[in-house]
Amino acid sequence: MLLWRCLTPLLLITLQICKAQDCHKFTDLNFGHAFMGTSTKIRLLLYTRDKATCGTLVSHSNLSGHPQFNLSRPTTFIIHGYRPTGSPPVWMSKMTEQLLARTDINVIEVDWNHGAANLNYFKSVENTRMVAANLTAFIGMMQEHGVSLSSIHMIGISLGAHISGFVGANLNGSIGRITALDPAGPQFTGTAPQDRLDKEDAQFVDVLHTDMDALGYREPLGHIDFYANGGADQPGCPKTIFAGGAYFKCDHQRSALLFIESLNGTCASTAFPCSSYTNFLDGNCLNCDQFGAAGCPVFGYDVIQWKDVLLRLGQTTTYFTTNEKSPFCTTNYILDMVIWNMKERWGYITVKLYYNGTEAVATIDHKASKFKKYTGTKLFAQFDKDIQSVEKMSLKFSTGNVFKPKYKLRILRIRLTHLEHKKRPLCRYDIVLEEGKEVTFRPIPCEESNF
Ligand SMILES: *[C@@H]1O[C@H](CO)[C@@H](O)[C@H](O)[C@H]1NC(C)=O
Ligand SMILES: *[C@@H]1O[C@H](CO)[C@@H](O)[C@H](O)[C@H]1NC(C)=O
Ligand SMILES: *[C@@H]1O[C@H](CO)[C@@H](O)[C@H](O)[C@H]1NC(C)=O
Ligand SMILES: *[C@@H]1O[C@H](CO)[C@@H](O)[C@H](O)[C@H]1NC(C)=O
Ligand SMILES: *[C@@H]1O[C@H](CO)[C@@H](O)[C@H](O)[C@H]1NC(C)=O
Ligand SMILES: *[C@@H]1O[C@H](CO)[C@@H](O)[C@H](O)[C@H]1NC(C)=O
Repeated sequence: MLLWRCLTPLLLITLQICKAQDCHKFTDLNFGHAFMGTSTKIRLLLYTRDKATCGTLVSHSNLSGHPQFNLSRPTTFIIHGYRPTGSPPVWMSKMTEQLLARTDINVIEVDWNHGAANLNYFKSVENTRMVAANLTAFIGMMQEHGVSLSSIHMIGISLGAHISGFVGANLNGSIGRITALDPAGPQFTGTAPQDRLDKEDAQFVDVLHTDMDALGYREPLGHIDFYANGGADQPGCPKTIFAGGAYFKCDHQRSALLFIESLNGTCASTAFPCSSYTNFLDGNCLNCDQFGAAGCPVFGYDVIQWKDVLLRLGQTTTYFTTNEKSPFCTTNYILDMVIWNMKERWGYITVKLYYNGTEAVATIDHKASKFKKYTGTKLFAQFDKDIQSVEKMSLKFSTGNVFKPKYKLRILRIRLTHLEHKKRPLCRYDIVLEEGKEVTFRPIPCEESNF
């Protein structure tokens, strides 16, 4: 009995050691390490479909010891950024799993936590060159085993985006694709192309911006640049410093979450080329003719399908909106109204669509809209959900002024057109909206002559 009691913990420890040896994990450091500063050490963790949640530490000098590293398959590297607290990135394993669920590839998580974990951001920036040189050597070794650079995709977040750029430049821009998720701004903004990511670094470079007013990069860097919600502030992220750490990283980290969601195809965000976010929200950039039958590009992993046309166009800046949490994608409609008020009115509109107990909401309030007699007012509305067959619809009008007398908006005709489905638009005639009051009605398919 006594012996058994002594042996059980021993057995458990042995089992745990065995398990730990089987699966290698991302380096877990703490604030102390970041405080003291860390020197660069690079670990490459391989994940494949048969071991999607169990990492294998790959040798930097000898690939023969890793039979599951099948070099006939494409290889995707995921490269994290600055780690001020030393903790492993929370999104990393999710991204790996979703990539493997999507395609049969080798995923290599580049763990440079030793090097990225430093309270002094400038030290971490300095280390990016060394990480890039190391990865370049590793890819060189893969090439010696017959791997084509075209089959390599690097996904870099923040500093990792610039590391990907350096690796790409070292390899003369021959790697297949670089996906940059909110590339780091501080220390990179305004530098020459060789000192940061640029579109010459790979055959195709796609970039997402989510925090360009703080940790991210403002200017376009790739063949296509996506500015989510304008690229600066993300819905659902804290706006004040009282929220603690999330205040600093929420917008920046959102880039990884948006990309992960684009992998499993549950919902796709169409991105519209435009000169500015305001112009986009005003509905001035909904023309997708330059992309032919494919339509405007979709944000994320699948944008590779637009590669040829985007290379031809040279550089494309696009915008899309998201919800504050998953599922992030919104559904785009055009709402146009003909008014018959005598006087001009300014105000904001909230629209809701209903089907079988679900409702989708769009609030159009980025600026006041002008409603003028017999003049069509065209509004761009992003709904938080896609409602396939609208049963009911409601409208609310407000002027944003609580002290003035309540206005009424007389609508001759309202028309709702889905931007992606080629369904017949929905219409309704003769509605009076009293300010602040929600009016619910059943829309009907528009008459042919109306669209
Ligand atoms: C890459 O980094 C690893 C670990 O930090 C090291 O063992 C290896 O020698 C480096 N390779 C090159 C080419 O610098
Ligand atoms: C590479 O690894 C294989 C398998 O572990 C081993 O047989 C071989 O000797 C190694 N080669 C070198 C150059 O270390
Ligand atoms: C390596 O991958 C290729 C392409 O997916 C496949 O045809 C081949 O069977 C794989 N080899 C091994 C040893 O699994
Ligand atoms: C890149 O170009 C340079 C100069 O032309 C050449 O020396 C080097 O071998 C090339 N590297 C690769 C990976 O193609
Ligand atoms: C797709 O990914 C999102 C975000 O990770 C997740 O919430 C959703 O359940 C996934 N859907 C499928 C079908 O895997
Ligand atoms: C309506 O919603 C209920 C509960 O969510 C669901 O069980 C039902 O299948 C839905 N009906 C239709 C026609 O979608």
